[in-house]
Amino acid sequence: MQIGPHLLPNALFVAPMAGVTDRPFRQLCRRLGAGYAVSEMVTSRKELWGSLKTSRRADHAGEPGPIAVQIAGTDAAMMAEAAAYNIDRGAQIIDINMGCPAKKVCNKWAGSALMRNEALALEIVEAVVAVCAPRGVPVTLKMRTGWSADERNALRLARIFEAAGIAMLTIHGRTREQGYKGLAEYDTIAAVKTALTIPVVANGDIDTPEKARDVLAYTGADALMIGRAAQGRPWIFREVTHFLATGEHLAAPTVTEARDVLTEHLHDHYGLYGERSGVRTARKHIGWAVRGLPGGEAFRQHMNTLERCEEQLQALRDWFDHLGQTHHRLPLTEVAIDEDAQADEACAV
Ligand SMILES: Cc1cc2nc3c(=O)[nH]c(=O)nc-3n(C[C@H](O)[C@H](O)[C@H](O)COP(=O)(O)O)c2cc1C
Repeated sequence: MQIGPHLLPNALFVAPMAGVTDRPFRQLCRRLGAGYAVSEMVTSRKELWGSLKTSRRADHAGEPGPIAVQIAGTDAAMMAEAAAYNIDRGAQIIDINMGCPAKKVCNKWAGSALMRNEALALEIVEAVVAVCAPRGVPVTLKMRTGWSADERNALRLARIFEAAGIAMLTIHGRTREQGYKGLAEYDTIAAVKTALTIPVVANGDIDTPEKARDVLAYTGADALMIGRAAQGRPWIFREVTHFLATGEHLAAPTVTEARDVLTEHLHDHYGLYGERSGVRTARKHIGWAVRGLPGGEAFRQHMNTLERCEEQLQALRDWFDHLGQTHHRLPLTEVAIDEDAQADEACAV
């Protein structure tokens, strides 16, 4: 799997998720088998580039390459400027966001709303490619299948974007209208894959190794992207890779390993956010990690009362050690994922 000049170790990607896929989480997923990670979206609004939120999002210290930065906005010149700004700060790949369903991406109808304005979408792609190509930086794009069931224009746009110089296209198999509800469909992704020569990445509802195998076979996609199923379960990448290679299931992580993985993640997380903000933003990662596990819900609630890094770490150690008395490996869990509100909020930069 290759994006422009960048050869990737495998074709299993972690999806960009604003408020989730910060540098510590991306690095965690890479360590556990993801071949590629795109950063959370950075706004094209210049006045926000100096903000703490944006500068944290643009922090790539120690991250394995290629460094891919996603940009979002509605104005072609501003998007081109944002691309150049991020390249100057280390971005090796620029990804354009036409996938977020939130009304207020950049306080405008950006994200997937751009799919409804094909002329503007093309203008943006052309402007960004014009800035990136001379710098040797590939431009990729992530979109949905269309605005609504009646306006499913991903195939037409895909052809237009490929002709405009996009190096890879990711498609989330839902329309904008669906948000995160209903089921992802893969027919549109399969049709796009058949029509294009650039790599196509399939995304949406891939949450088990079997689903990954089936989506890959059905769409013929060059790569798969996993988002919500990696929340609290970053080892899904090695599980899927192992299953695709051997047809066998990798054993679930031991309780001790899960404890250590989460502890290491939290240390990185506090390092980026500091204690006050770090303890609060770590709660969601901890909540996802214990979701569906015996006693997990009560523990998640207790976690919300703790204010110090050391308290959080200690409580986590104690909880996993307690679980370890009855379980050697993490028990299998069925978790319903519905992140509409969370994603909406996160995308509203
Ligand atoms: C909390 C959250 C934040 C997201 N933020 C972004 C984003 O910044 N850029 C983007 O292209 N997609 C974003 N998405 C969409 C995901 O990348 C992905 O397309 C979607 O979750 C479907 O994949 P999944 O079923 O594997 O989760 C976000 C999704 C969630 C749940």
